[in-house]
Amino acid sequence: MVPKKICILGGTGFVGHRLVYRLVKEGYQIKIITRRPERHRDLLVLPTVELESTNIFDIDQLSSSLAGYDTVINLIGILNAADNSGNEFRKIHVELTHTIVQACRRRGIKRLLHMSALNADASRGTSYYLRTKGDAESFLLASKDMDITIFRPSVIFGEEDSFLNRFASLLAKTPILPLACPTARMAPIYIGDVVSAFSHALTDRHTIGQRYDLCGPRSYSLKELVEYVAKLSGRRRMIWGLGDTMSKVQAFILDFMPGKPFSLDNYNSLQLDSVCEQPFPAIFNIKPTPLESIAPIYLQNKYAHLRYDHFRGSARRH
Ligand SMILES: NC(=O)c1ccc[n+]([C@@H]2O[C@H](COP(=O)([O-])OP(=O)(O)OC[C@H]3O[C@@H](n4cnc5c(N)ncnc54)[C@H](OP(=O)(O)O)[C@@H]3O)[C@@H](O)[C@H]2O)c1
Repeated sequence: MVPKKICILGGTGFVGHRLVYRLVKEGYQIKIITRRPERHRDLLVLPTVELESTNIFDIDQLSSSLAGYDTVINLIGILNAADNSGNEFRKIHVELTHTIVQACRRRGIKRLLHMSALNADASRGTSYYLRTKGDAESFLLASKDMDITIFRPSVIFGEEDSFLNRFASLLAKTPILPLACPTARMAPIYIGDVVSAFSHALTDRHTIGQRYDLCGPRSYSLKELVEYVAKLSGRRRMIWGLGDTMSKVQAFILDFMPGKPFSLDNYNSLQLDSVCEQPFPAIFNIKPTPLESIAPIYLQNKYAHLRYDHFRGSARRH
């Protein structure tokens, strides 16, 4: 059988990397569209992967990139934007989704797998992130001529995640961590399970027209998760859960910092618990992987070289 040709947008990120490795192993031919192919040359070691730089916001350029492909996967998403007007979220999550669908139609491509997020809702979402993700979902579900599957994960964990790793790195550098939104609940889902769901959807037409909430087997408060990360790192740290007003103040301040380690929009997203109401979708035949069976493998000792130096008041390498 000739392998299917899949074009992936956002294939260079945390989820994208894992998905690309899985799909190559399964025999697919992959084109990844990226803004900076030179930064992702590591992916070219995979035998059936090609990287291309295209202006994805330009319908003509995007549709020529899709020529010859039969499936598109859209993983592009942003957690923070440079402006606080919501325009960038709208551009990346909503307008881009419209352009992708238009480009697919031009090329006669019907199959589209789309990554959204748990709690995405165009009207009830509590942040720009959730509302624009929800807006894209509504548009896709109304695009009846397309064969669409939507995934809505809670926070995703795995070796290269930017969630648990970020806290592990922070805990290595400070004796006290003031934690915003400590009671927000989430049900972390393992990256391996997320890519298995995507892979399954490619071959199961029953997934067409569906959207799937993806959660891990347990839910935790954010404070419980950070305490667990501290425990795995072998560090005795004071994790100071901030009340609502102080959480908002922290978000407001960090919103102005380079790289926005935390933002008002993140704070707004955390006002809703990121947990599933239903069990893991049976169609994928997956028993979700417990956090406790994976996180120790990549968090224990990873940040051991960074230690808080009480005398110099800074983190330094040992
Ligand atoms: N990670 C999680 O915990 C989580 C949870 C729920 C939902 N999701 C969703 O899952 C998807 C993938 O997440 P991820 O963690 O893999 O994200 P990631 O590591 O940040 O990767 C995002 C990808 O999007 C592309 N991208 C980002 N900003 C862009 C822009 N302004 N213009 C064009 N391309 C842009 C990047 O491609 P290039 O830099 O190569 O161009 C990158 O490969 C996202 O839609 C995210 O919202 C993630």
